[in-house]
Amino acid sequence: MTNWLVTGGKRLSGEIAVHGAKNAALPILAATVLIPEPVELKNCPPLSDVEDMCEILRTLGASVRRSGDTVTVDTASATHGTLPDALSHRVRSSIFLLGSLVARFSKACAPYPGGCEIGNRPIDLHLYALSRLGVSFSEGDGRICASVDRLTGAVIDLDYPSVGATENAILAAVRAEGETVLRGAACEPEITDLANFLNACGFCVHGAGTPTIVISGQSGGHGVSYRILPDRIVTGTYLIAAAITRGSVAVTETDPALIGALLSKLEACGCRVETFPDAVRLTATDRPKELVSVETRPYPAFATDLQAQLFALLSIATGTSVITERIFENRFRHAAELKRMGAQNEIIGQTAIIRGVKALHGARVTAFDLRCGAALALAGLAAEGETEILYAERIDRGYDRMDEAIRALGGQIQRKEL
Ligand code: UD1
Repeated sequence: MTNWLVTGGKRLSGEIAVHGAKNAALPILAATVLIPEPVELKNCPPLSDVEDMCEILRTLGASVRRSGDTVTVDTASATHGTLPDALSHRVRSSIFLLGSLVARFSKACAPYPGGCEIGNRPIDLHLYALSRLGVSFSEGDGRICASVDRLTGAVIDLDYPSVGATENAILAAVRAEGETVLRGAACEPEITDLANFLNACGFCVHGAGTPTIVISGQSGGHGVSYRILPDRIVTGTYLIAAAITRGSVAVTETDPALIGALLSKLEACGCRVETFPDAVRLTATDRPKELVSVETRPYPAFATDLQAQLFALLSIATGTSVITERIFENRFRHAAELKRMGAQNEIIGQTAIIRGVKALHGARVTAFDLRCGAALALAGLAAEGETEILYAERIDRGYDRMDEAIRALGGQIQRKEL
């Protein structure tokens, strides 16, 4: 277990560069199974989730090497499509491998997926999408096995724009015979990044970033060198860190266009936001103003993965804010932890009512999931005194050494390995 000791009260200032997006790296790593040639992934972040995914690929027989932020994967030597239990439980995204493995080996087995404890996360849409392409499933002993004689293109109507199901469907459809039309697809930038990667490898995916994606299946696919897009959630988290400490931080090597919904909310809180082609600077001088209606929804609306961090900021707002979580049903675990730090909030179903307080104080709190941990770190930076965050290793799943990054901006975070 890792604990973080956060000492509050310092205004953050300076510049911080953002690493590649975890949620793009994971499906792109899953896609390498489709290409039995070396693939070079630049800006591939050294996060524990990404390293776990690399390890899963190794257990399938692939060669995976990291040098700095570049990962080279060669799946030519991969021999089978059976995923290891313990590792796959840790990474929910191992489920993406079902689509690419069944496309490569005609058979794939995976344990039911793991990941963050943010509610019941079913995989019915993944299974539906793959079954439309001809895949059949058998279940038992906590595992699900997929098999197919021949993947065949089809019309797939998703009745909810699931990010993972959209990615899984694309990963199998690129190798199907004929055309697949995916309607009701998720529009997240990480899906566009996956499609761009696949197209760079010679596959044919059109319309990613819109609700209708058309995929012309083919048997080819060749090695490529590809740069993963910047992490919009990390970008947003560091901007909120500047806002909560009334600091001034420039987040660089990123794309402000990916976080439009967050930027307008931060401006409504009274923060000054300046955007540049590949950077964004936030300056805050006062307590944030309240936001009376924030709802998480699929992209391009406000991201669920930034909800906990915004919640922390609104905990010190001048008035009462309301956040409704529309994506996951159990994503307010930070609320009770923030209360330990003096925040005032009430959860009614999927809605949080947050009464802003003048100041938070340090406390012993638990990072129940990745974004909950990030939110508590931000709250700790703004609080009076010291905050101890238990299970802070969960933060490492999505942020590359966030403690070091915050220290470089003048904040105080100490890591304690227990
Ligand atoms: C991805 C992101 C995660 C983000 C989420 C929503 C990755 C690795 N993770 O997760 O960080 O919070 O998108 O933006 O990219 N659902 C079903 N059936 C399914 C699949 C999903 O009911 O088969 C439901 C889920 O329970 C959830 C909602 O759909 O309530 C959204 O899930 P989904 O978009 O699939 O998110 P993930 O791909 O798991």
